[in-house]
Amino acid sequence: MHLSRLRLRDFRNYGRLDLEFTPGFHLFLGDNAQGKTNLLEAIYLLATLRSFRGVVSGQMVRLGQKGYFVGGSVVAQGTRDIKIYWSNRERNLTVDSQPVRRISDYMGVFRAVVFCSEDLQLVKGPASGRRRFLDLLLAQTHPGYLALLQRYSVSVRSRNALLKQRVIDENALESFSHEMITVGQEIIERRAQLLPKLEPIARESYRLISKDAEQMQLHYHSSVKRDFAVELKQSSTRERAMRTTLVGPHRDELILSLNDKSAAQFGSEGQKRSIVIALKMAQAEYLTQCHGMPPVLLIDDIMGELDLHRRSGFLPLLRRVHSAQSQVFMTCTEENWPEELGQQIHRWRVENGQAKRAS
Ligand SMILES: Nc1ncnc2c1ncn2[C@@H]1O[C@H](COP(=O)(O)OP(=O)(O)O)[C@@H](O)[C@H]1O
Ligand SMILES: [Mg+2]
Repeated sequence: MHLSRLRLRDFRNYGRLDLEFTPGFHLFLGDNAQGKTNLLEAIYLLATLRSFRGVVSGQMVRLGQKGYFVGGSVVAQGTRDIKIYWSNRERNLTVDSQPVRRISDYMGVFRAVVFCSEDLQLVKGPASGRRRFLDLLLAQTHPGYLALLQRYSVSVRSRNALLKQRVIDENALESFSHEMITVGQEIIERRAQLLPKLEPIARESYRLISKDAEQMQLHYHSSVKRDFAVELKQSSTRERAMRTTLVGPHRDELILSLNDKSAAQFGSEGQKRSIVIALKMAQAEYLTQCHGMPPVLLIDDIMGELDLHRRSGFLPLLRRVHSAQSQVFMTCTEENWPEELGQQIHRWRVENGQAKRAS
């Protein structure tokens, strides 16, 4: 799978940009604040319809403009032409000029995995980020998963709204509970089934990039112990006091450990960094196994943060792009690009909202 074409209009600091890419390794070089990360953000948006910076669409519109356009051509079995237009008043997503009615139908058209400094939040930040990591991977591998998530989140939100009322409409609460339990159980099951497949890959990735001898473990801890319906009933008094839904997959945890100790609490900075890279490597590897082709990798400025040992564990993943006709986009400043990758690199110079082939 690779991106053969990228078109931007009024996206971040790009007024107008049209680029064509071959498969292989692409390096975006340039000084700070020139638009390197913005390019990766646009490519990631094509894959997931979200920014990896966790911002809303309005922030990606070029200052002073009404809306942005991001277009791309993705080559996998055939070529698909994706167009995203967003403004305050209009949102438009088409694949081969056909409007996409449900976002959940869109997942899988283009798969990408991003490595960026925000990833550190996977270890350091709240559980919601780790749930999002699992959910994205499930959405990228199971058609229909995103639709489940959307149904679940509507039912939780509706329940929470009811629980905040002075007088609770018990019939309505009951019907949202029913929906929440049905859908929630399936979400828990899918997440739980993913873990035994993902963990060995993550553990092996961690072994490759960490020189330390400890083992990485992933553990899915659901807030539902046995029976969702029973436990939801048992939480009834507490949830009325707290005015919010207290059990369910929206409260689940993905626990990251090293030698059975919490990585967030006991891990060093370097170990935390290794864990997030291992998780992302595992995401890429799992997608490759599921679909028989690697996703496009987007790597934002992280090479400079890695010591030599971690770099050498990471590089085999990158080198594979050549044999698999896949693609990597990496941003770097002139000083820290990974020269050990050798010669087969397409270099682009990014300067003030323009990107040009460099020799
Ligand atoms: N919505 C926006 N409209 C116009 N310019 C923007 C917008 N968002 C960010 N920028 C500009 O983009 C530049 C940062 O781009 P970025 O890709 O993060 O840089 P880097 O090359 O360091 O990765 C800054 O000059 C910033 O002012
Ligand atoms: Mg940047």
